[in-house]
Amino acid sequence: MTVTDLDYEKALRRLSKASVEKHWEPFRDIPWDDPEYAIDPADPRWELPRADPLSAHPWYLAQPAETRAAIGLYRQANVAKVGMQFENLLNRGLLAFAWRLPNGSAEFRYVYHEMIEEGHHGLMFQEFVDRSGTDAPGMSRVFRWAGEIVPVFGAVAPALYFFGVLAGEEPIDHMQRRVLRDGEEGHPLITRIMAIHVAEEARHISFGRRYLRYHVPRMAAPSRFLLSLGVPPTAKVMATVILTPPPAMARSFGIPKSVVRQAYWRSDASRDTIADAVGGLRDLCQEIGLINPVSKRLWQALGIWRDGAGASSRQNRARNGRREVETAPLPEG
Ligand SMILES: [Fe+2]
Ligand SMILES: [Fe+2]
Repeated sequence: MTVTDLDYEKALRRLSKASVEKHWEPFRDIPWDDPEYAIDPADPRWELPRADPLSAHPWYLAQPAETRAAIGLYRQANVAKVGMQFENLLNRGLLAFAWRLPNGSAEFRYVYHEMIEEGHHGLMFQEFVDRSGTDAPGMSRVFRWAGEIVPVFGAVAPALYFFGVLAGEEPIDHMQRRVLRDGEEGHPLITRIMAIHVAEEARHISFGRRYLRYHVPRMAAPSRFLLSLGVPPTAKVMATVILTPPPAMARSFGIPKSVVRQAYWRSDASRDTIADAVGGLRDLCQEIGLINPVSKRLWQALGIWRDGAGASSRQNRARNGRREVETAPLPEG
């Protein structure tokens, strides 16, 4: 079903209104200096959550409790740093995208609201990194370097750019929802940060999906075909950058290379985590006609295709249903 101009504009105005009515500010809504929120690196609540593939590895389980907590804190700080870096690139791309929009554009207003929220997220994530006492680098050096080119796509190839945005937002959201849903005894500071982030990201993800549902069917067939080939590698790279730690973590804690490989690169758990994290994008591609025999091969070759993806597994449907909600369950004020 093609989205009409009116439906699209109405949805964007609704999202903009929701951004005004429900939003959080990190230095107003997080009690950083409350003693309950203080960070002690030996606190067992920092141990890796079950959602992290290293958490179940025998090497990790054999470490003293304090080391397990310190690794978990480093990992959380690194995820926050990657989040800040990703949102920095995202905002630069959104500015480039907005630069070209005409007067009266509903997209202009919404992306400005989104950039403001991402600015708050960047502040919140960096503050957490600084208070963690770790020197988490975020993305590995090659991605930090290569990432500088990403914002250009906001201006020259916005459809691929918005796929890249979703390819970053959905895995972060997927991971954070999983941790919150598992209901593990987490540290209140990171739980609060994740709850705020998940609530605001629901709107961003809704916008990204609406943008693509509206614009992709209106693209010329050759551009659409090229886009269908650009999405799977983008999804794989983004999910990998977000869900795997940088080499610096292994160096800091003396984690053997074989352990890192087993946990993050070769395990069924890590492969499933990545394939599952891009499941929403796979379904969206199916819905808007970006799965063809060639692109499907590419998804398969990259190991991120799952059968039934188009028909959507029950789990995916449940997850996507939640994604379409524009304001997720709200953290208390
Ligand atoms: Fe964000
Ligand atoms: Fe976002």
